Amino acid sequence: MKNKAPVKIAITGAAGRVAYDLLFQIASGAMLGPNTLVELRLLDLPATMTELEGRAMELHDCAFKTLDHVETGSDAKTMFDGVNFALLVAGKPRKAGMDRSDLLRDNGALFKLQGEALNDVAADDVKVLVTGNPANTNCAIASAHAPDIPKEQFSALTRLDHDRAIHRLGKKLNVNVSSVTHMSIWGNHSSTMFPDIFHAEVDGENAWEQIDDMDWLVNKYLPDVANRGSTIISKRGSSSAASAANATLSAMRDWSCGTSGEWVSMSVATDGSYGVPEGLYCSFPVTVDANGNYHVVEGIKHNEFAQARISMSVQELVSEHEAIKSLGLI
Ligand code: LMR
Repeated sequence: MKNKAPVKIAITGAAGRVAYDLLFQIASGAMLGPNTLVELRLLDLPATMTELEGRAMELHDCAFKTLDHVETGSDAKTMFDGVNFALLVAGKPRKAGMDRSDLLRDNGALFKLQGEALNDVAADDVKVLVTGNPANTNCAIASAHAPDIPKEQFSALTRLDHDRAIHRLGKKLNVNVSSVTHMSIWGNHSSTMFPDIFHAEVDGENAWEQIDDMDWLVNKYLPDVANRGSTIISKRGSSSAASAANATLSAMRDWSCGTSGEWVSMSVATDGSYGVPEGLYCSFPVTVDANGNYHVVEGIKHNEFAQARISMSVQELVSEHEAIKSLGLI
């Protein structure tokens, strides 16, 4: 690996709690594998530079074989220069009593600036994953300000919801999470999201046929998954960090290395399929091929209940889109 040029990975919000987990995992090779050398670009506000220097020192002290070197800085154009991956984690986190959409105005302006900077200086093949909330609409803002980067190279994180949905389903059927496949999150990363267990499988068999309990679905499973972020905030006093880092890492790993046919959930640019209006970033089940291109799973037929839930979440995305238009963010 010594003579190979490293892959450049920028992480925003690099002085934050989510990044503290994420940075070490990426540096250890957990994102791009043991044979890919990485260069980390840690971006955060000027006031955090001393903290970032400390993080860079710790990263070097791990002597990870896959870590080439670490750069720190507060200027987006410098930190995004030539990057192949941008993990946009930065953003004001949600506090108790807030919805993710309450963050729209504060965080939206940041994503406009970051989209512009990526457009100017990122590598042509850059993949941009938005974790900062409200992730779907922040992703739409960043992509709108990066017209030279294909919109398929942007995605927003619904992997955390996906993993939450898998865990709850496994628990209900008393199986290990490895038995659960074909899970999918539809819509927005918000309390309106729809985890589709009608098409999920457990040990290769349809999950819903093994449960068939609308009361549990409506009153337990759906609210449990959808409100998990708020429940964690109420327990910890701050929003999820290690699980958000793990989901960010898993999402980017799968988007780069492929899913070998398995479904994962990604919020991707809409093209009108499944009746979702164009111009949004909406969560769908996707597979990712070995070249790192995602493909929305086609031909899924929803029952009336699922379709109504998905439409509600899509309608929320449309409203957020209207809000960012009226705020002048796109
Ligand atoms: C989560 O889902 O836990 C995160 O998006 C944080 C939040 O605000 O809910």
